[in-house]
Amino acid sequence: MQKAAIITGGSSGIGKALVLKYANEGYAVTFTGRNKQRMQQVSNELGKRTHLALELDASNRGDNEKMVSETIKSFGRLDVLVCNAGISMRALFEDLDPDVFKRLMDINFYGAVYATKFALPHLLESKGTIIAISSINGWRSTPARSAYSASKFAMQGFYESLRTEIMNRGVHVLVVCPGFTCSNIRNVALNAEGQAQGESPRDEEKMMTSEEVADRTFEAAIKKKRDLILTFQGKMAVLLNKFIPSKLDKLVYKMMKKEADNPLK
Ligand SMILES: NC(=O)c1ccc[n+]([C@@H]2O[C@H](COP(=O)([O-])OP(=O)(O)OC[C@H]3O[C@@H](n4cnc5c(N)ncnc54)[C@H](OP(=O)(O)O)[C@@H]3O)[C@@H](O)[C@H]2O)c1
Repeated sequence: MQKAAIITGGSSGIGKALVLKYANEGYAVTFTGRNKQRMQQVSNELGKRTHLALELDASNRGDNEKMVSETIKSFGRLDVLVCNAGISMRALFEDLDPDVFKRLMDINFYGAVYATKFALPHLLESKGTIIAISSINGWRSTPARSAYSASKFAMQGFYESLRTEIMNRGVHVLVVCPGFTCSNIRNVALNAEGQAQGESPRDEEKMMTSEEVADRTFEAAIKKKRDLILTFQGKMAVLLNKFIPSKLDKLVYKMMKKEADNPLK
């Protein structure tokens, strides 16, 4: 029977690249998202390859339950769950509407918790793989990204606990931490009032591609790696933060202060 994967947030960026990668590797793929047009585009690119496109909200518990039950109904099994759906934000915490903070936690963190909760029985059965798409911000926070960083730290704490809980049950847990990656995330990142900021404040062309993140993620899962930390800058941030965190506070502030229209004072 064909193996099956679920990828949350598959309509764009890293999620879309993962959908195409898993489909090319022979998996039946379920992917979710909210943007009908972009989801249709991904479906068109998949063509005859077995897939299920579900218009669902990652932050909704019932939608996550449906995502898993529809997958089992269609494909009869589940081998890989990728918790990828996510949004970002950019604002000083002092200006940030707490509802925007909550929205980030609801999508990035609770979205992963719900998806994992409903998928876990099937993954225990197939001795499958859980892949969490976190961020370098899950190791080292940056200013004006308080809610985003908090959501990624929360994800990593959750998966570290779960990985240890199920370590003798045959399910592999991989946490992927991309560095800056070319995608739509900075265009739709929320400002202090919860509106999409509309454009990226960084040069997207200079970033790692979403396709490279997807390829490296697939390989790391095959090799049963625990963590995948991407980009030279990302690896340095994680390493230096371990040994010289105060120095890194200053370096990170300086780096983020260079962003176009940054809110730092
Ligand atoms: N790009 C980077 O520099 C970077 C770096 C580190 C980590 N990451 C992580 O990589 C993951 C993917 O981000 P990306 O860079 O590929 O961004 P992206 O191009 O904006 O894609 C985000 C995906 O998540 C989906 N999504 C967002 N909110 C959702 C919701 N409530 N329900 C269902 N789907 C939702 C979007 O679909 P719809 O718009 O159709 O809802 C889209 O498919 C995120 O977890 C992000 O934190 C990205």
